[in-house]
Amino acid sequence: MKLSPDGILFVGDLGEADIKVVKAINSLSLPIAVILGNHDRGKDKTGELLQTQINLLKDKHCGWSLMEWSVSGISVVGARPCSAGGGFHLSEEVRAVYGEITLEESVNRIVIAAEKAPRDLPLIILAHSGPTGLGSEASSPCGRDWKPPALDWGDKDLALAIDKIRKKRIPDVVIFGHMHHNLKRGGGYRCTYKQDIWGTSYLNAACVPRKTKGSKGESLFHLSWIEFNNGLLTNAYHRWYRSDASVAYEETLFNRHADKKDARC
Ligand SMILES: [Fe+2]
Repeated sequence: MKLSPDGILFVGDLGEADIKVVKAINSLSLPIAVILGNHDRGKDKTGELLQTQINLLKDKHCGWSLMEWSVSGISVVGARPCSAGGGFHLSEEVRAVYGEITLEESVNRIVIAAEKAPRDLPLIILAHSGPTGLGSEASSPCGRDWKPPALDWGDKDLALAIDKIRKKRIPDVVIFGHMHHNLKRGGGYRCTYKQDIWGTSYLNAACVPRKTKGSKGESLFHLSWIEFNNGLLTNAYHRWYRSDASVAYEETLFNRHADKKDARC
């Protein structure tokens, strides 16, 4: 048995600029979209390591652009690459590759990419850090948990872009990583799914580590899994798969029919 998704989204922090990981992603024969994370910059302020990964990924990297998948029936728009959250900040590596980008320019790039997306397909926004506005608790989807005070550590440009996009269409799902599910201070578990009043779903997919052991010692790995039907998001889960691709455990985040949501939020 094999998993057979219609596409795979990578939320970044692939492996500290490890080219082997990028090549492994490139070897997959599925529609793929990648947004690189802050840990993908490498320790190379010239930006060469970052540029090398972007070059290898080619059009699989969707930073500030529209990913046009012809087979999966969805549109993916990438947000600002390599974000470390915390509002808006461009690292030296990102400036070396992309030049000096203002907050307003970043917003406009995301909005323009979304405007190019076909209106009859669901719109997914793929980001490394989620947007501001999802809460200021340490356990919020983008809440700062590693030092007090807890605060909203989301991306301001992404939030502003979503506000602008919403004037023309409602993004279906915003998927991001960066802020790990297990909280650093005081333990506990992050709220990993929210839906705003307009119906946009926000999914934090940063389960770290993705590999774990089941109750019988078997190897499990985590994927966040979303399903669409007739252009609508119908289901969202965190799932832990066995090596034979069967589901050992799943957490239902959203079910359009049951309206079941993560009880921990
Ligand atoms: Fe990160």
